[in-house]
Amino acid sequence: MRHLLSAADLDLATTTAVLDLAEEMGQLQQRPVKKLPALRGRTVVNLFFEDSTRTRSSFELAGKWLSADVINVSAKGSSVSKGESLRDTVLTIDAMGVDALVIRHSASGAPLQASQWARAKVINAGDGTHEHPTQALLDAYTMRRHLRSLGGDGELAGRTVVIVGDLTHSRVVRSNVLLLQTLGATVVLVAPATLMPSGVASWPVTTSNDLDAVLPEADIVMMLRVQSERMSGGYFPTPREYTVGYGLTRNRLGLLRPEAAICHPGPMNRGLEISADAADSASSLILDQVAAGVAVRMSVLYHLLGGDDEREGDPR
Ligand code: CP
Repeated sequence: MRHLLSAADLDLATTTAVLDLAEEMGQLQQRPVKKLPALRGRTVVNLFFEDSTRTRSSFELAGKWLSADVINVSAKGSSVSKGESLRDTVLTIDAMGVDALVIRHSASGAPLQASQWARAKVINAGDGTHEHPTQALLDAYTMRRHLRSLGGDGELAGRTVVIVGDLTHSRVVRSNVLLLQTLGATVVLVAPATLMPSGVASWPVTTSNDLDAVLPEADIVMMLRVQSERMSGGYFPTPREYTVGYGLTRNRLGLLRPEAAICHPGPMNRGLEISADAADSASSLILDQVAAGVAVRMSVLYHLLGGDDEREGDPR
């Protein structure tokens, strides 16, 4: 892998290799001393132009636990706040000789652009409404472990993943649809018509506006955040009506099969798309997803930086 910009960059063999190595990396999380020498001498820069709790801190831990040098650069506190462009910021950090840029940006396509300017490897840590490939990897990792805990082989092929909520503004759904297709899962998308992505008819999914009808089919139900900050205008009449139609309420928990699990990439709007009863229930994998984020990002960093290859020549 030269970069990780999209879940489409991950074929089945690569996905399986990343998830399998993440299982080994996950064992490190249980140890009192969390350090491997695998990326000693490598430098990773977290370049976050948009807020994050989970992704930024887990990439930082992942790099540090693999002995890489990791620094964080955010728009606030950097020369971006003085008007420096994305290109100049990327070229500036890249000129220092770093090995990887982990980029989050509100503009879809920003990491792709950066990969065309930088010699460092680029990882998309979430770009606008486009993609969030490491989120899809950690979701798949969490689902596999859940299925194994039920006594199965952990394979997602033939399983049904129901993804519910603000799909229009979600980069998580786009990466999950791509990766779950690679892994052979059936994906059902549920949202009001106003929050169904344009072009969804060409996606490898089925769609529904009726959450109650779909929930009993789910092996996994993934609730997505209502992204009010990306909305201009009314996508639903009131928050209360959204919850009545599309929230995972206490009453709806009774529609799930006993072995079905609940995911949410976070951050959550408790009481809007997901009730506290659901988020904190025994079926919830939400904190498992957070823990998986470190193991999966260690694996991704190792796959990108673990070899002996030098930085690419000047791509400009
Ligand atoms: N899921 C996710 O990307 O969370 P953060 O915005 O906190 O990184």
